[in-house]
Amino acid sequence: MTVTVLDHPLAEDIVTRLRDRRTGPAEFRALTRRLGGLLVMEATRSLPTEPVAIETPLEEAKGRALLGGLVAIPVLRAGLGLLDAVTDLYPWAVVGYLGMERDEATLEPRDYYAKLPPMAGCTAIVLDPMLATGGSGSAACGYVKAAGPDAVVFVCVVAAPEGIAKMQSDHPDVPIVAAAVDRQLNDRGFILPGLGDFGDRLHGTT
Ligand code: PRP
Ligand code: URA
Repeated sequence: MTVTVLDHPLAEDIVTRLRDRRTGPAEFRALTRRLGGLLVMEATRSLPTEPVAIETPLEEAKGRALLGGLVAIPVLRAGLGLLDAVTDLYPWAVVGYLGMERDEATLEPRDYYAKLPPMAGCTAIVLDPMLATGGSGSAACGYVKAAGPDAVVFVCVVAAPEGIAKMQSDHPDVPIVAAAVDRQLNDRGFILPGLGDFGDRLHGTT
């Protein structure tokens, strides 16, 4: 399994602002969408293409066109913040939804909603900003794989070493694209230094 961490000053600047406790929901949403664009560009680097012949206004030319479908799967609620980044870049992408909620006591994910399209011939991008214990991300990838995509990639904003290890064990074939890898989890399963509860900060429910 590969873990790719964005290596770009713009990504670092945005992550720092997302971490800042003073950043309110309006700015948090806008920053997430912008960072999402960088993450999605990286996550779709291996999309298949095919050769095509076209005519420029001057002569015939050869180019390449994207081949196959793309399905974006935001994990509710926090993953919604990254969805526009996919549809901005790939307006024809199909969207499936997964609802997952972590039990605050056991830290186990509880799935409460699933609406996934068939994914044969497609690349699936799972969007979940926080990879903490990895329970939610791993369960989400399990659901998505059952829909039969050709490839799955997991996109997050912050990953903890514990979550990366869980994904490595459960889904070694799923590459991870992250904006930051943080130090560790605290005893409540929050990422340190992290940025707090992503869903609450995105949706203004703190
Ligand atoms: C957050 C986050 C992930 C999960 C990560 O969701 O968006 O889905 O926690 O934690 P894990 O790696 O330990 O499973 P949360 O359960 O807070 O739901 P929300 O997005 O609706 O706020
Ligand atoms: N979910 C979050 O939103 N933040 C964390 O730090 C861990 C899980």
